[in-house]
Amino acid sequence: MSLEHSVSQHYTHGNLEAALLAALQRAGRNIDALSYADLALVDEFHIGGRPATRALGDQLDLPEGARVLDIGCGIGGPARCFAAERGWKIEGVDLTAEYVEVAKALSQRVGVGASFRQASATALPFADASFDGAYMLHVGMNIPDKQAVFAEVRRVLKEGGLFAIYDAMLQGDGAFAYPVPWSSGPATNHTATPDAYKAALSAAGFTVVKERNRRDAALQAMQRRIEQTAQPIGLPVVMGPTAPQKLANMRDMMERGVFAPIELIARAD
Ligand SMILES: C[S@@+](CC[C@H](N)C(=O)[O-])C[C@H]1O[C@@H](n2cnc3c(N)ncnc32)[C@H](O)[C@@H]1O
Repeated sequence: MSLEHSVSQHYTHGNLEAALLAALQRAGRNIDALSYADLALVDEFHIGGRPATRALGDQLDLPEGARVLDIGCGIGGPARCFAAERGWKIEGVDLTAEYVEVAKALSQRVGVGASFRQASATALPFADASFDGAYMLHVGMNIPDKQAVFAEVRRVLKEGGLFAIYDAMLQGDGAFAYPVPWSSGPATNHTATPDAYKAALSAAGFTVVKERNRRDAALQAMQRRIEQTAQPIGLPVVMGPTAPQKLANMRDMMERGVFAPIELIARAD
């Protein structure tokens, strides 16, 4: 089985849209009158949730109407957030077909325009120099050849455009515990150090202009998230029955300094 197939299998739920709507209904939401804000607990699949998305977006410094690429868009939380709050024209791609379908369905349901298609980050279906900016949240951990992805992002970005990355990156050589939200075992886990990311960015034609370690904010967010696992609504609906173990392993490894969520901002040379 190819790596990409294993990765998309890891994320595929099978009945995700119905499970999310049922969870929202159990939590007392009217699913026929949802707003993008109602989805924030379920549709931001990275450490720190919507506040982390906004914190990354702040650094892209793009005007309303900018065309922005979301690499590994998941079920579309960050895309809807930026489309609704900043007026960016977001185009998301993701490997996992079910996520793309759910991203489209949720966007239609809440009336926020963003486009989504199934594609690999290593072969982006877009013309050269066609985006003003690009971002990627918690996706690189599934991709061994980061330089290949960054070269694709560089190809579709206009010169001078910013690329914002927010990934879990290795900090030490402590033992890795599975499962984690992005992987059930070593075959699909391709976490790397910030230095490896920076070298790959540089080789792909970017200049890294900023780096920020979000460990402390992330540990606080993790605590809140672990407390939510007993509730009917929350990211655990997306992550399935092993969610408590995945979240506990993540927190333990962040506390032990195995990895940290890191932001990198790079400019297309
Ligand atoms: C942890 S989720 C993050 C989703 C989204 N970025 C968010 O923050 O809500 C990782 C996503 O990356 C996608 N992904 C992993 N490898 C990919 C690749 N090579 N190309 C495109 N998407 C990929 C997965 O399908 C999954 O939706």
